Amino acid sequence: MTTIVGIPGSLRRGSYNLMLLRAAAAAMPPGVTLDIASIRGVPLYDADLEAEQGIPGPVQELKSRIAAADGVLIATPEYNNAMPGVLKNAIDWLSRPPADIPRVFRGLPLGVIGATPGMGGTLLSQASWLPVFRVLGVLPFFAGRVIVSGAATVFDESGNVIDPGTTTRLREYVEPYAAFVQQHKRSVV
Ligand code: FNR
Repeated sequence: MTTIVGIPGSLRRGSYNLMLLRAAAAAMPPGVTLDIASIRGVPLYDADLEAEQGIPGPVQELKSRIAAADGVLIATPEYNNAMPGVLKNAIDWLSRPPADIPRVFRGLPLGVIGATPGMGGTLLSQASWLPVFRVLGVLPFFAGRVIVSGAATVFDESGNVIDPGTTTRLREYVEPYAAFVQQHKRSVV
């Protein structure tokens, strides 16, 4: 069994990126499960809070889920041509304390996809994540990409993908990504 944690980079109830992750979960091949997590409840990073109270519960829980998983698939919105602050904040918390970075991130098969109602498909946001994931030492999946533009016409009100091209492109990404995760399972650090 292979388990991938899906992280939507949005707190919005009607998030297109959450919808995209749900579609990715449905497209996973047999034997591979995409469990969708949430960054809700992660406070703003504050070094004083960390020093006084330690790592917050929702962060500890997400760190444990990632450490136990075989891969992570992030669905990132784009804000002002870069990654959204809420997701960057969550990743920053997940990188604390630095001694835990190997357990959580090193060698982690990681994919990034994204959706936007705009025209750019989150291309710039996805690119803005590259230095972050490089410093954390993940194993990025680069053999494809999913950039969904015009999201308002791609999903219906229930979150189903109604654009056949998106369904095809998602499947063409998910299948090799799932195989990549299966090939690069980490040994316990
Ligand atoms: C946006 N949005 C946006 N979209 C885009 O394609 N490129 C961009 O640079 C921006 N910039 C931006 C800045 C700010 C402050 C907001 C609030 C929004 C629109 C964004 O893609 C849209 O709100 C998505 O719906 C957010 O993703 P979720 O919540 O649907 O997953």
